[in-house]
Amino acid sequence: MPLLEARDVVSGYGDAEILHGVDIDVGEEEIVTIVGPNGAGKSTLMKAVYGLIDCWSGTVTFEEREVTDLRADEVTGQGLCYVPQRENVFPNLTVRENLEMGAYIDADVREEDFRAAFDRFPVLRERQHQKAGAMSGGQQQMLALSSALMLDPSLILVDEPSAGLAPDLVDDMFDQLVGIRDETETAILMVEQNAQQALSVSDRGYVLDMGENRYEGTGQELLESEEVRELYLGG
Ligand SMILES: Nc1ncnc2c1ncn2[C@@H]1O[C@H](COP(=O)(O)OP(=O)(O)O)[C@@H](O)[C@H]1O
Ligand SMILES: [Mg+2]
Repeated sequence: MPLLEARDVVSGYGDAEILHGVDIDVGEEEIVTIVGPNGAGKSTLMKAVYGLIDCWSGTVTFEEREVTDLRADEVTGQGLCYVPQRENVFPNLTVRENLEMGAYIDADVREEDFRAAFDRFPVLRERQHQKAGAMSGGQQQMLALSSALMLDPSLILVDEPSAGLAPDLVDDMFDQLVGIRDETETAILMVEQNAQQALSVSDRGYVLDMGENRYEGTGQELLESEEVRELYLGG
């Protein structure tokens, strides 16, 4: 049984059905990437899995427990965290306060949890007393990830971790994600526009198009598939 199992998920906004029955699995300690065109429903899928929007039908199972109808905060309590693409830090709080907020469910935030975050991203230690909103987009992304990790989740959903990063920082971000998985044994499900780079660090990947599964395979298989390359990876 995988860590996360989304089956036949149908969801959308108002009357608009966006996801028409999507399946996704994430295994323990796996890095899985969802790619696909703009508007395919990738972010919507993340929100449906995490409980920010309702699943109209289908099921989401996490650690063998059905979480389909749980609210996002309840899902977080189960050990599944989510890093949205935008507005993922509290700009008016300091870096350190942001990390404390990340651990809000955990009554005793331990100094070693801060140390782990600061060791991973030293710039956060340097800037721990500065407002998060004063940092660059890339630094905010590091903070958002670190805040999610404060609860020691077994899975994090990350929507476009490389969005807004300078091109020379994109590979660093993917290396950091691999490092996080290796060190903390946290599985990662991400959505990415930088499909080639993301798939190259992924154990498995999915192509989502128009709210439906199109292809799935190992990261390598998707990178080598002529169809996937031509249709989704820009040749
Ligand atoms: N809050 C929303 N309200 C209404 N429609 C939305 C909302 N968010 C996204 N959509 C629509 O849902 C579709 C899928 O969007 P999204 O999941 O963000 O795609 P992706 O992340 O793959 O680019 C798009 O047609 C988009 O316009
Ligand atoms: Mg999106």
